[in-house]
Amino acid sequence: MDKYVIDGGRRLEGAVAAQGSKNACLPMMAAALLAEGVTTLRNVPRLADIETMAAVLRALGAGVEWIGPHEVAIDASTVDKHVAPYDLVRRMRASLAVLGPLVARFRRAEVSLPGGCAFGPRPVDLHLKALRELGATVELEGGYIVAEAPALVGKRINLSGPAGPSRGATANLLMAATLAEGVTVIEDAAREPETVDLVNMLTAMGARIEGAGSAELVVTGVEELRPAEYEVMRDQIEAATYLLAGAITGGDVTVEGADPEYLTPFTAALAEADVAVEPAAGGLRLRGELPVGPVEVRTAPYPGFPTDLQPQTTALLTLASGRSVIVEGIYPDRYNHAPELARLGANVEVTPPTAIINGVHKLYGAYVMASDLRAGAALVLAGLAAGGETNVRRIYHIDRGYEDLEEKLTSLGAAIRRVAEE
Ligand code: EPZ
Repeated sequence: MDKYVIDGGRRLEGAVAAQGSKNACLPMMAAALLAEGVTTLRNVPRLADIETMAAVLRALGAGVEWIGPHEVAIDASTVDKHVAPYDLVRRMRASLAVLGPLVARFRRAEVSLPGGCAFGPRPVDLHLKALRELGATVELEGGYIVAEAPALVGKRINLSGPAGPSRGATANLLMAATLAEGVTVIEDAAREPETVDLVNMLTAMGARIEGAGSAELVVTGVEELRPAEYEVMRDQIEAATYLLAGAITGGDVTVEGADPEYLTPFTAALAEADVAVEPAAGGLRLRGELPVGPVEVRTAPYPGFPTDLQPQTTALLTLASGRSVIVEGIYPDRYNHAPELARLGANVEVTPPTAIINGVHKLYGAYVMASDLRAGAALVLAGLAAGGETNVRRIYHIDRGYEDLEEKLTSLGAAIRRVAEE
């Protein structure tokens, strides 16, 4: 297992470009299963999670080839199996996205239940409800979701969960509905731009979908979809992570491809912390100065503050001039980064779903351990600010979602290197 060794305390300055969006791309790869032929995706990030989804598609018999540094060709005409195996799905919950396409095109799917996750239970009840409402029989057998549907018939379906919409269940229902008979109305659908990007790709494949970006999607089923070529949107969570690298080191960082509209709740919180972000070079520029001001943040489904930016923002707020409050509206227990930040000298008190962050003047390098993708990113950010050397272990979590992280941070002036650790 590799670790990062970071020599902290350096101001970061310069510009980086945002990668393709992991969370837009993963369901799009599954959507390729809906059409006979070769679908091509451009601006695909080189990430462990993308390779895992490619392995799932290959396990189904699809051909998946890199035809460029960030371009993937998926040939779904050779799909002859309908089982997404446990050893792949347990690695990545997003593998669930093959469920809807398999049932829609092949009328059958067996997808392993995803394992637990570092930051709490990740139920799948809304995914199962979606398919049952369309007329599939869905049973749980031996740790697998077994779905069969002689026919799928559209209807009005509400996908609201305890935390509001579900991005994954919206994607699965959306993809299944494109080939269902009649009209499917998805109530309380996810509104994230990544979901809008999936709608745009499905439309390019010949799907008929209205309401992208709103809480109600209307899908009129068609006989079949055709393969398409599609360019994936830029990764806004990765983009904001690099802006935060500028903020936490009192630096000056520009991220090309950062989207002001998507990041509005994030930049509004930064403004409240006296951190200015301005449009620049086809993206956003952040000029940071420590300490930042304390803020109160509540995570929520889009257009709220993204839960995927909560750990990274918490890292910044450990160096605020006062007491900040974070409320996790999506994953109440998403605070595995807090005890690790405390090892660097931070003062964070967690009572789920709330974290109280009492700002300190300085962080000091230490050994810390990543437990999931965004918690790992938060620890890297804190290590960049901490005086002395920080070792971030188990960075395979970070490799899931950040392409060329050490190269990008080094280009901004960070002293970070990847070291193999037995
Ligand atoms: C997506 O996961 C993202 N992953 C996550 O990003 C992100 O944290 C999450 O959305 C929330 O924004 C991908 O897009 C691949 P949900 P997903 O279904 O689709 C509850 C990252 O760091 N729920 O929108 O699995 C659930 O417990 C990852 O890139 C049910 O109750 O999330 C949660 O509270 C981590 N029943 C809420 O809905 C269900 O059947 C939102 O979950 C499904 C979900």
